[in-house]
Amino acid sequence: MDSAGTRSVINGRKNPTKRILIKNGKVVNDDLEFFADILVEDGIISAVGPQLELPANTTNTEVINAEGKLVIPGGVDPHVHFQLPFMGTCSIDDFYSGTVAAVAGGTTTIIDFAIPTKGQSLLDAYKQWRQWADEKVVCDYSLHVAVTWWKEALKDEMKLLTEVHGVNSFKMFMAYKDVFQLDDADMIHVFDCCKNIGAIAQVHAENGDMVAENVRRLLAAGICGPEGHEQSRPEEVEAEATNRAIMIANQTNCPLYVVHVMSKSAAMSVADARRKGCVVFGEPIAAGLATDGRNYYHTCWRHAAAHVLSPPLRPDPSTPEFLMNLLANGDLQTTGTDHCTFSSEQKAMGKNDFSKIPNGVNGVEERMSLLWEKGVRTGKLDHCKFVAVTSTNAAKIFNIYPQKGRIQVGSDADLVVWDPDGSKTISTKTHHAAVDFNIFDGMHVHGVPRDVITGGRIVVRDGQLLPLQKGTGKFVPTLPYSPYVYSRIHQRDKIPKWVKVDRDSDPTSRVRHLSGGSKAEGHKPLLRGLSDYVDG
Ligand code: URP
Ligand code: ZN
Ligand code: ZN
Repeated sequence: MDSAGTRSVINGRKNPTKRILIKNGKVVNDDLEFFADILVEDGIISAVGPQLELPANTTNTEVINAEGKLVIPGGVDPHVHFQLPFMGTCSIDDFYSGTVAAVAGGTTTIIDFAIPTKGQSLLDAYKQWRQWADEKVVCDYSLHVAVTWWKEALKDEMKLLTEVHGVNSFKMFMAYKDVFQLDDADMIHVFDCCKNIGAIAQVHAENGDMVAENVRRLLAAGICGPEGHEQSRPEEVEAEATNRAIMIANQTNCPLYVVHVMSKSAAMSVADARRKGCVVFGEPIAAGLATDGRNYYHTCWRHAAAHVLSPPLRPDPSTPEFLMNLLANGDLQTTGTDHCTFSSEQKAMGKNDFSKIPNGVNGVEERMSLLWEKGVRTGKLDHCKFVAVTSTNAAKIFNIYPQKGRIQVGSDADLVVWDPDGSKTISTKTHHAAVDFNIFDGMHVHGVPRDVITGGRIVVRDGQLLPLQKGTGKFVPTLPYSPYVYSRIHQRDKIPKWVKVDRDSDPTSRVRHLSGGSKAEGHKPLLRGLSDYVDG
């Protein structure tokens, strides 16, 4: 207590709260929940155990009573776009308001995307994003890098980014024709390169050529409103691209992460591929799990346009629950938000042409509570699974585990005292993002963060966001060859890939019939579609 009788907390990278003792809570990891106290020192978890006591004469310690509450790892949102230059404007939540909104909702690590323009060096884009983020973030962050064009020399940049700059994932856009879209031949190069440097390939899966043609036809037919956005990119356009990306991943033996899985059929493509043994991961987002594409048919233009993102929300109202069920049973693995917000004024750039409405919605602040409401309260996710899909799985895939996504000695002190019974009504008026529309406005959700600690700094106390200093978060490098992803890939590399048949060299010789088949003994390529023929 300070002289005014309030608890004093020093926020800031250089002065994290020296010690924090969280008492009487129930600790939840992805595999276990148990009652324990947690001691935090200098930004790291230094002890986890029953009835921890502070040494005598200890000063500068804040004690948080978590009785009746859960203590969970801070959320990891693997998909956001803060201050993204896109579609002739720039997304309105920058790295400050975006990360403030994140921590307000219980997310303490975000992963953004450095997206070069066509022809721009990947390294330059990365440095630009680092500069934007470093000066503003209030929680830790990592970066994916997008490959939006291709030439051989980019292999060296990807290698450098992975080996030196802490980037282990590269995203390809199969849509946004003439802007970010790659064709199949270039994608194969990027997948091959990812594989060679121990990185993860990511895709935005939509058939961009089909979308472009549909846009042309819809506008010609006089459909210019936001409903045209949804109709130009129907489910099968997403599913086809998802299947194509999975095929390329399988052929190149490269791990694949499908961002923003928005439809039943795309989700089933991921689930089916996993059941066949492919190393593929799927990420539904908060918007797709909590609302649907009927919003595009709302008669208020502003409302409909606010929901425009790609791939779009699906008009089938049973889609969100379907995606949640796949998340619950492990067919899908993580939850992102694709938080990429544009004000109503920015959205109005597409007033007369839906294809000019900047694509993107909010979610970074709401994701954790929406997952609790729609996943845990419905009996689909238990506490451990909630932690798995909101932090641990993403941390494992992108190789920042157990630094992130786990409560154990040595892990970063990114912690949330979670009130499972607390509730709130989501509102544009009270949210912390800069955007002037919240697609979840009016939803009543249970499960809220009561206290949030990021890097050993208390940023939310008793449900109240504290004043936050820009630049107090740090960049977290993601290292290549994530064991969670690559152990199976490495093993598969040991299995012969191609089959050569030894035959006599005279093409005119008499046809011989083999009796009982051993045409290619010992060569049974896995997952390449040849095994049926080889076994004859
Ligand atoms: O509509 C979206 N998703 N906007 C952000 C860019 C992207 O495609 O992820
Ligand atoms: Zn995308
Ligand atoms: Zn995105």
